[in-house]
Amino acid sequence: MGAAGGDDDAPWWRKGVLYQIYPLSFADSNGDGYGDIRGIVEHLDHLQWLGVDGIWLSPITVSPNADWGYDVADYCAVQPEMGTLADLDVLVAAAAERGIKVLLDFVPNHTSEEHPWFVESRSALDSPKRDWYIWADPKPDGAPPNNWVSSFGGPAWKRDATTGQSYMFNHLSSQPDLNWWNDDVRATFDEIVRFWFDRGIAGFRIDVCNLIVKDKELRDNPDATEADGPEEQAFGQRMVYNGNRPEVHDVIRGWRAIADAYPEPRILIGETPVDDGEALARFYGDDDELNLAFNFPFITAEFAVGPLRTIVEEIEAHLPPGGWPAWTGSNHDMFRFASRWAGGDDRKIRAALVMLLTLRGTPVLFQGDEIGMVDVVVPHELMRDPLGVRYMPHYAGRDAGRTPMQWRDAPGAGFTDAGVTPWLPIGDAAARNVDAQRADPDSVLALTRDLIALRRATPDLHSGAYESLAGPETVWTFRRGAATVVVLNLSDDDATVDITGTVVFAPDRDRVGGALTAPVALRPWDALVLAT
Ligand code: GLC
Repeated sequence: MGAAGGDDDAPWWRKGVLYQIYPLSFADSNGDGYGDIRGIVEHLDHLQWLGVDGIWLSPITVSPNADWGYDVADYCAVQPEMGTLADLDVLVAAAAERGIKVLLDFVPNHTSEEHPWFVESRSALDSPKRDWYIWADPKPDGAPPNNWVSSFGGPAWKRDATTGQSYMFNHLSSQPDLNWWNDDVRATFDEIVRFWFDRGIAGFRIDVCNLIVKDKELRDNPDATEADGPEEQAFGQRMVYNGNRPEVHDVIRGWRAIADAYPEPRILIGETPVDDGEALARFYGDDDELNLAFNFPFITAEFAVGPLRTIVEEIEAHLPPGGWPAWTGSNHDMFRFASRWAGGDDRKIRAALVMLLTLRGTPVLFQGDEIGMVDVVVPHELMRDPLGVRYMPHYAGRDAGRTPMQWRDAPGAGFTDAGVTPWLPIGDAAARNVDAQRADPDSVLALTRDLIALRRATPDLHSGAYESLAGPETVWTFRRGAATVVVLNLSDDDATVDITGTVVFAPDRDRVGGALTAPVALRPWDALVLAT
């Protein structure tokens, strides 16, 4: 790849835009209030029109839904309420006809307690599957085997009556963690990976990728210190031994080797909630681990130049040669950027979309981002996320970002039939919906679509290098490739920048085509893409 210029031969997922579908809330084709695979098929035209290249589906595999699909009870079968394997084949084929690849969620850290492996494992000390999970004796006084705490709060161990031993879990106690030191576990997951890749699945998003391997000796985590972040303070310890182990990289390398061996290489995207760019870059290995790793500090950063630019520069500095960032503002755990970054303000939402779609890296939009969907306040009695149910009023859980897609202003919002109670309440579909925004050339949806098209048509944008440019404190100015410059005024104040060029994109459409000469005046939350 030319370091400065663009590269038309870059792989599809570098040049393209990915889109996360949360199937339960995308489209309900059979009127039961829950989204399903057929519903996705019925809305592929929207995704093609929007211009996305790949969709990542949150879990569609069999699950008792303690954690809405992230508690898997069968890795190679489709949840009956979502459809069948045949439906998934239809989706893959219909998506392919529209130039869209399908990626699945892959949850190798833990299973459901209802998975037959765990049922067998817990049945006896000498069960052939005993060592597939992490079992240990409680302390003589009955205390848990060590001090590990679960990411969802409380001890990471549960004593099991059948044998008196405890099993380990990093999330809900109904999600026992697998033992990745066991070779049969590894071999079985290799088969699962091949099962889906052979079916035409283009890649995986790997759930809690950084947690998979635990300390073999089950050592206690060190206590948090004042120097640690808020999460460590809240848990009282640093997650050194129940995740973030260096041995996880061998596991990822193994999957990457499988993915690369396909004639059309499959891709691996990690859920990698680590603190800094250096730790994140390690998940790319020597370009032999993840293809893309989600940047959580970016998602949680304040929507301001300083914090965001620092994070971008940091990952740019640490990525191995060939490494490629991923940029996302919303997902089913972290809520919606239209609320978090933009407080529902349309100018800020537009500026955020320009940022996400012009940085060097693969943008991953979450369903609804394209219309600026905001978080929805879900009352306690309607909550579905076990975390909200458990922790209200201290924590409202993750339902606010998981509410149904707003397709049109009608009962059911085009998500489900009129008269059907959707599994989660629907937000303000009159304020934001796909149909109305499609009819409006000045909508957020039109902006998203045009930006995706511009990115595709402009090698500088889809594969050119990133370089921060000097400018006022509240304005983020960066160059992409040889001749494209992006200017983002992330503030409520006017500003001026010393830049000269032709506007190729701006949320204020009447500016497009204009030739600008320094000094250029910017209004609050202005965003410009310039050819220089
Ligand atoms: C990941 C998923 C989240 C789930 C957790 C446990 O963080 O994104 O939704 O609750 O893993 O599986």
